[in-house]
Amino acid sequence: MAKDPFTRRNFIKTTATTTLGVTLASSTLAFNQDENKKPVRVAVIGTGNRGTALLRNLLVMDGVEIPVLCDLHMDRLANARKLCIEAGQKEPLQYAGDENAYKKLLEQEDLDAVIIATYWDSHAAIALEAMQHGIYPAVEVPIALTLDDCWDLVNTSEKTGIPCMMLENWSFRRDNLAILNMIRQGVFGEIVHCHCAHSHDCIDHWFFDKNDGHQRWPAKYLLNFNRDQYPTHSLGPVLSWMDINCGDAISEIYSVATASRGINAYFKRRFGEDHPNAKLKYKQGDIVTSTLKTRKGKTIIVNYDMQLPRPYDNRWSIQGTMGIYNEQRYALYIEETSPEYHQWEPFKPYEEKYLHEWWKEGDNNLT
Ligand SMILES: NC(=O)c1ccc[n+]([C@@H]2O[C@H](COP(=O)([O-])OP(=O)(O)OC[C@H]3O[C@@H](n4cnc5c(N)ncnc54)[C@H](O)[C@@H]3O)[C@@H](O)[C@H]2O)c1
Repeated sequence: MAKDPFTRRNFIKTTATTTLGVTLASSTLAFNQDENKKPVRVAVIGTGNRGTALLRNLLVMDGVEIPVLCDLHMDRLANARKLCIEAGQKEPLQYAGDENAYKKLLEQEDLDAVIIATYWDSHAAIALEAMQHGIYPAVEVPIALTLDDCWDLVNTSEKTGIPCMMLENWSFRRDNLAILNMIRQGVFGEIVHCHCAHSHDCIDHWFFDKNDGHQRWPAKYLLNFNRDQYPTHSLGPVLSWMDINCGDAISEIYSVATASRGINAYFKRRFGEDHPNAKLKYKQGDIVTSTLKTRKGKTIIVNYDMQLPRPYDNRWSIQGTMGIYNEQRYALYIEETSPEYHQWEPFKPYEEKYLHEWWKEGDNNLT
């Protein structure tokens, strides 16, 4: 069915950033408050781990229909279809078969929005196609792998008038949005410096299969590249905290990587020296440290840290002319306000006092 992109723009009355798949209250969804209360029709492309989690979020929202699902694997589609039916939805249509099945789906189906939770290398292509059909794409991280993809997304969104959202959920965390409120209200003075990291050992379950160690789809990136593979979970909230592309902009980036030791050590330890993946040469260093400078003179340090054994951590810390917040300590210090001179105080009371309105409104169970 041919679609007019500009009629579809009207269905979301809040900004696209307050809509799909993030830690928001369903009551904040301003879908269809007029326009005859028609349900919003959302497709899910990529019904693996993350796509299924996002589907579960959609299925508890009022006014959302899931008419179509798409994946490469029939078993994943069957599982997603079952979830829809159990939630009281009509049986969704299914597109499968090959990696281009999404094209037919976007061409043929009458949709308002699409969740894209596929492999990294297809995010941008599917989002571009969705916008060209007047469908709002909500795209899992990292959304793009090249600068050209980024510009294509921006240019296509501007040309079609269709918003496109990257689903960086950490930006919407309760603590991180309270910090944003505090920054906007000047509690930390002028912001000067920030540290953040994505410290998450994903070798033993995500890059490689946890049972026999075979390479899953993202493993090829560790073999072929040496870079910060996953910068959005660390940087997402920081970009808002520091007004990046909204008053300030990143002007310089310097990155260094350690040698690659963790992946080989993991395979030797877990599967023995003879496992094929124990002998491979990985380009990806274990820790990448990037220093970013902004036009207005702020600095940010970002760590990629996904292949050494360790507990999960984001290590957010933000510092201004009046104080500092440290996520690992769950503590802050504010000059002239904190009870003890140059001593940390607990963050919890501040998180409550500066709670973001999205978290006041209710259903905090979405992830
Ligand atoms: N925001 C978060 O917290 C978070 C958490 C986990 C994963 N992710 C992101 O979500 C995405 C998916 O990761 P995952 O862990 O769910 O992977 P996964 O392998 O479990 O699922 C990906 C699914 O996409 C399907 N797929 C791939 N290409 C397709 C195509 N062209 N058409 C239709 N289906 C296609 C695959 O068959 C698979 O079922 C990745 O970008 C990942 O980085 C984000």
